[in-house]
Amino acid sequence: MINAKLLQLVVDASNDGIVVAEQEGDDNILIYVNKAFERLTGYHTDDILYQDCRFLQKDDRDQSGLRAIRDAVKTGQPSRQILRNYRKDGSMFWNELSITPVYNEADQLTYFIGIQKDVTEQVQNQEQVETLKQEVAQLRAQLANTGK
Ligand SMILES: Cc1cc2nc3c(=O)[nH]c(=O)nc-3n(C[C@H](O)[C@H](O)[C@H](O)COP(=O)(O)O)c2cc1C
Repeated sequence: MINAKLLQLVVDASNDGIVVAEQEGDDNILIYVNKAFERLTGYHTDDILYQDCRFLQKDDRDQSGLRAIRDAVKTGQPSRQILRNYRKDGSMFWNELSITPVYNEADQLTYFIGIQKDVTEQVQNQEQVETLKQEVAQLRAQLANTGK
């Protein structure tokens, strides 16, 4: 069985953010964040411990993925969504967030683990593909018209 120190080393070596949050009223407050989360967001553990992760959204709260995460948190379900988040310096990144509920032996929901992956490059590439597709469709339509 892996010991606690090795587990900590492994979690801190992860390239993706890993956090543990505990339910407190309507909030899920952070009780652990790994080094990758600090690198990704620019926030140090001491700045954000015992806060709900929603501070990463700043004022950008009207997001469909967010509604899905909110429902999953309320009903104690796992969920994976891509959200717009903001680092401490204000810069935006696309965060593929996966949350999973953790139940104790008494089957009570006590914690959520969250894994944060920076997918900014993939989202921007996808946006570019969509723009190019539209341009190609327009050009095709123009060509078809000039041929008449
Ligand atoms: C373990 C865990 C990790 C979370 N990580 C993030 C995150 O990295 N970025 C984010 O925008 N929201 C994150 N959330 C979601 C927010 O904490 C919150 O649940 C969400 O904003 C919906 O609730 P609200 O409408 O009350 O803000 C996380 C939630 C949990 C439970």
